[in-house]
Amino acid sequence: MIEKTIEARIEKMVYGGEGLARVEGRVLLTPFVLPGELVEIQPVKSDPRLLRGRVGRIVEAAANRVEPGCRYFARCGGCNYQHAPYADQTRFKAEILSETLRRIGKLEAPEPEIVAGEPWAYRNRVQFKAVKRGREFHIGYLEAASNRLVDIDACPISSPAINEALAALRDLGQRPDYPAGDAEFEIVDGSGLLVTVRAGERFPATLVTALRERLPALVSIARSDASGGFFRLWGDGGVVCEAGAFKYRISHGVFFQVNRFLAGELARVTVADLSGELALDLYSGAGFFTLPLARRFAKVEAVETNSAAVRDLRANCAAEKIENVKIHKAATAEFLAAYDGPKPDAIVLDPPRAGLGQAAGKRLAEIGAATVVYVACDPPTLARDLAVLGGKGYRMEKVFMVDLFPQTFHIESVVILRLG
Ligand SMILES: C[S@@+](CC[C@H](N)C(=O)[O-])C[C@H]1O[C@@H](n2cnc3c(N)ncnc32)[C@H](O)[C@@H]1O
Repeated sequence: MIEKTIEARIEKMVYGGEGLARVEGRVLLTPFVLPGELVEIQPVKSDPRLLRGRVGRIVEAAANRVEPGCRYFARCGGCNYQHAPYADQTRFKAEILSETLRRIGKLEAPEPEIVAGEPWAYRNRVQFKAVKRGREFHIGYLEAASNRLVDIDACPISSPAINEALAALRDLGQRPDYPAGDAEFEIVDGSGLLVTVRAGERFPATLVTALRERLPALVSIARSDASGGFFRLWGDGGVVCEAGAFKYRISHGVFFQVNRFLAGELARVTVADLSGELALDLYSGAGFFTLPLARRFAKVEAVETNSAAVRDLRANCAAEKIENVKIHKAATAEFLAAYDGPKPDAIVLDPPRAGLGQAAGKRLAEIGAATVVYVACDPPTLARDLAVLGGKGYRMEKVFMVDLFPQTFHIESVVILRLG
């Protein structure tokens, strides 16, 4: 049953970008509001304990509310916080991170140090959805929690080169040889533009030629199919992205940190306090942390499952003349279970959203490295994993909230843990 409009005062922001209010013992979550605001909320979903709503009218606006910087804001599902000044966005995220560690992890954490940069034009990697039906072509992002496409002409959180690629793809979609149906374009902006097309249909060679002419910055284009295979259509298959003092070759489908202004800072705070004989770099990708670690340790062992990332990592070590890295193409849990090497001085881990998990967390703690640095993109899984490490004697020494995703609810954090 959908309920009638409710007037409520927003208490605080929560993970996911919504504002929380309490109404007759129930929690009410609403996007695009700010703490302290009195708002009329139209409930859209309800269960006995939780209501979700959308803003009908702002009765009393917060003094800090600002005009969003993008005309698609609140329709497009990409951003959550454009109505808040940037300094408030980072404060919300630091508070949410602390509260999540306390509530889910039952852990007392030091105040997060905020590492922030340029809040616009920062993204160096995006995925655009596209659809062609008859003569109509649309390209953009999905609405929040829906399959509906928001057609966009520009994305102000993305780099200028990505916006040029968006304009070029929009022109491409008007051509008669552009195939009907749904597609996704992933674009990485590094030394040039890397474009990966995910489409059921084949992507005709005439379109590849047209895109090369329309987009001189293009360095490689590949098609990816449902099984995750990559078929190179043109170019050498990779692009070079920079962070700090290092250059990284990144191939189609390989992860690279998305914020071109803060990637170097993320690497710096992660490795700054580390040095010694042996470090493990778990979930190493193309070597984002492996390379700086290799300059600080006599030996580094890197663990990664993705074959293309492992190839890039090998190439990245070779390009930097780094010879003290042993690469394991393996799943972290299996690597840790079988590990019988010397006790590492440090372990860096940067898992995907699913985190490390209980069993691997216990095994990691048993290995007994003096320092563990956990780089996380999801505070709730971070908190669960830290609870396991905390139970085995690790304590948090420093917490950083590195704002890789301004204007959005996403929270990247780096936690430095010491044993004993
Ligand atoms: C968040 S990315 C981090 C990559 C790298 N540390 C960086 O900063 O660029 C996570 C990486 O873990 C890899 N991965 C996913 N599951 C894995 C697993 N079970 N074991 C090892 N690596 C895994 C992914 O392929 C991806 O490269």
